[in-house]
Amino acid sequence: MKTYLAACAAVLLASSAFAAPASLTIHADKPGATINKYVYGQFSEMLGSGVYGGIWVGENSPIPNTRGLRNDVIAALKELHVPLVRWPGGCYADEYHWRDGIGPKDKRTTRLNTNWGGVVDPNTFGTHEFFDLVEQIGADAYVNANVGTGSPQEAAQWLEYMTGTADTTLVKERKANGRDKPFKVAIYAMGNETWGCGGNMRAEYYADLYNQYATFMKTTQNPAPIMLASGDRSGDATDFTKVLMENRRARMDGISLHYYTVLGDKWEIKDAAVGFSEENWIKVLANTVKMDGYIKTHDELMTAAEEKAGSTKKVGLYIDEWGTWYKPEPGTNPGFLVQQNTIRDAIVAAANLNIFHKYAARVEMTSIAQTINVLQAMILTDGPKMLLTPTYHVFHMYKPFQDATSLPIDVKTGTYGYGGITVAQVSASAAKTKDGAIVIGLANLDPHNAAQVSAAIAGAKTGTVKGEVLTAATMDAHNSFTAPNAVHPVAFNGAKLANGKLSLSLPPESVVVLTIR
Ligand code: AHR
Repeated sequence: MKTYLAACAAVLLASSAFAAPASLTIHADKPGATINKYVYGQFSEMLGSGVYGGIWVGENSPIPNTRGLRNDVIAALKELHVPLVRWPGGCYADEYHWRDGIGPKDKRTTRLNTNWGGVVDPNTFGTHEFFDLVEQIGADAYVNANVGTGSPQEAAQWLEYMTGTADTTLVKERKANGRDKPFKVAIYAMGNETWGCGGNMRAEYYADLYNQYATFMKTTQNPAPIMLASGDRSGDATDFTKVLMENRRARMDGISLHYYTVLGDKWEIKDAAVGFSEENWIKVLANTVKMDGYIKTHDELMTAAEEKAGSTKKVGLYIDEWGTWYKPEPGTNPGFLVQQNTIRDAIVAAANLNIFHKYAARVEMTSIAQTINVLQAMILTDGPKMLLTPTYHVFHMYKPFQDATSLPIDVKTGTYGYGGITVAQVSASAAKTKDGAIVIGLANLDPHNAAQVSAAIAGAKTGTVKGEVLTAATMDAHNSFTAPNAVHPVAFNGAKLANGKLSLSLPPESVVVLTIR
């Protein structure tokens, strides 16, 4: 009996859920900013099999491809409506020399990938192949220039090579390499993580370098690319945002911010992607929702600097690296950052997207790390096989949010707790799509209890509701090459509309997207 009571007490201490009903008020009467479709961007670095094998297999591969790009992956990315792809890095960008990746493939320079796995980089995927990728999937291009080991001249000449129209030697070279009309560069970033792998710089030093580089990035492309400065690291650091905001001399349309979700407070403490405990489930979720506070801090800083400078144009916050970072899959090259992707990652994705929608006025772009086979990927491949991860499914379910108008939402929710950590049980966001529908994204962070959700929608007529749900029976449910469809979305018929009020039971560990017309 004593043992039984002790066991009950231990369970109560470990798990504390206050699964109170959640009540939402969606303000269609107070529309907010547009959710830039670039919030749904992707990051594809020259890392592991993120590019080589994952998307680029070469023209002579037995894997069906179009000009070397695998058809199955292209079709999946097209279906996802990927709006933007960031390339070539990451840390890789600050050692990338664009000339290595142009011209006949058999004559391209090979180099060691010093950042990622120490493998030889054949450079068969370069500028032309990258633009073929974005054009095949219908996305825009975010190109990250090399500040760490490059020069303003190298970055300026790359821009001229890509976008030039005049009869110059560089433009003639591009044409000779098979591309007559200019490529379109949507975003041109100056360096990456300049506080770390990009050069271990102080913010003051980088701010000067940024201004120097940006001054010379001249192009006739209209509109000109968004000029992006490399900003702060994960966590509470704000020195780069602060110093960059106060020292804007050249055009600076955005500042980046990186925040990865790891297990603990320290970067070194990483979780396994599958087979984890409930303690680690909640630790990861509690860490991921810290994104809200980080964006808030940077937003306030940027607003204060803009007000001080009397500037009318906002500088955007570009969260161009985010997502989970776990221990690498056993048996893989640790430098390839290969990890499985579970329903926990799906909830991480939805919770972050909900946060980005909330800050739509400041967060103009994000790119999750990374598209294929690396970190919190959309797609995993194994030779000719391909699978879609739970994170892919969330991005697919959330497609209607791209370019929709964010709607303020008041969320009153119970909590889910375990082992002394507590998080809000329900994460939510809402928007109005261009064709007048109201779309609501919901995630239940509690792996045990459903959440009873009711929502009032102020300022909109409600007629019908339909939805999709992604959920699973275990905390680490995932898709594998033997069971590639174990976790996939299905129709959700559990939402009811009565007297303009929405009600539903949100299953444990689930993501639901509803469309109301
Ligand atoms: O996404 C992997 C790496 O994480 C990127 O190359 C770097 O910018 C960050 O540290």
